[in-house]
Amino acid sequence: MATVGQIIFYSMVTFIFIFAALIILILSLAFSKSTSTVMSRSTKPVANLGEDKLLSCYVSTEVQQNRLSVVSVIWEKKDLGLVYVYKDGAPALAGQAPQFKGRAQVFPDAVAAGNASLLLRSVKSGDDGEYTCSISSSAGRGNVNIQLRTAAFSAPTFRFSDGVLTSEANSWFPKPNVTWLNQTGNVLNASTSFTQNSAGIVSLVSTLHSAQVSETYNCRIENNLAVALAEATITGSSVSARTYFTFSAASSLILLNNGHVMISVLCFCYVA
Ligand SMILES: *[C@@H]1O[C@H](CO)[C@@H](O)[C@H](O)[C@H]1NC(C)=O
Ligand SMILES: *[C@@H]1O[C@H](CO)[C@@H](O)[C@H](O)[C@H]1NC(C)=O
Ligand SMILES: *[C@@H]1O[C@H](CO)[C@@H](O)[C@H](O)[C@H]1NC(C)=O
Ligand SMILES: *[C@@H]1O[C@H](CO)[C@@H](O)[C@H](O)[C@H]1NC(C)=O
Repeated sequence: MATVGQIIFYSMVTFIFIFAALIILILSLAFSKSTSTVMSRSTKPVANLGEDKLLSCYVSTEVQQNRLSVVSVIWEKKDLGLVYVYKDGAPALAGQAPQFKGRAQVFPDAVAAGNASLLLRSVKSGDDGEYTCSISSSAGRGNVNIQLRTAAFSAPTFRFSDGVLTSEANSWFPKPNVTWLNQTGNVLNASTSFTQNSAGIVSLVSTLHSAQVSETYNCRIENNLAVALAEATITGSSVSARTYFTFSAASSLILLNNGHVMISVLCFCYVA
């Protein structure tokens, strides 16, 4: 039999646990609101030099449903300053870093719906680095950091003659490696030569000897940021090919962090 003292003691302990759990729940809700209202589809995008790149940044849909109105959008780059500012329905580019003059924009219609994604035109190698997108809206203020990496990557073209399958790709940076595989995944013996232009961009020619008509070969071109996987099938004297690209670690860490916060709170409630 528990004494009255023990009952009071255990109810107090239980009460303290429940109270602590509630406080943590409230704190984590407040915390997740202030850090997760602004998100990015990709916080580590890889841009192809010379092409345009969209840096994703938007107010999370949860908040969007409450008919939010966006007051301002500020895009900054670490060590360089302002990339783009959009305020009260118009660009405000007085303090814009010269590097981004005429090369950056947001989409006014999208901004009105909480989407402050930035289009960066004709990406240069100096554009890589850390960007911060800050959105002030009726739902509060939030920001997200985006690490832009720049690389050059292009799909190879193929030709076949006298038993030799040749793959050519003319725009890679940093210098990639080339691996040929047959349909069962065995690495094949091939030779690759590289040439570099004055801007450091690498072009390559890779040859696979004793290739067979009507066989399919995989040619994988890879550096630390991008992978091009080309599937080439020799059909008589011509070659039909498809190329798929993948990029290194393009993930949204913010979503993961919030997931962890919520899970630890749930476990704590269960224990209490
Ligand atoms: C944001 O707007 C851009 C430009 O219109 C669009 O490409 C992108 O898909 C939008 N992103 C989201 C999350 O709505
Ligand atoms: C792939 O290469 C390996 C080793 O040369 C060989 O044993 C295998 O039969 C090849 N597969 C095909 C589909 O040609
Ligand atoms: C691959 O090529 C190298 C040099 O061309 C040659 O020495 C080697 O024997 C080849 N290996 C195979 C498995 O054919
Ligand atoms: C090719 O390059 C990638 C990235 O630099 C590296 O991870 C991989 O091990 C390399 N593969 C070969 C076969 O050298």
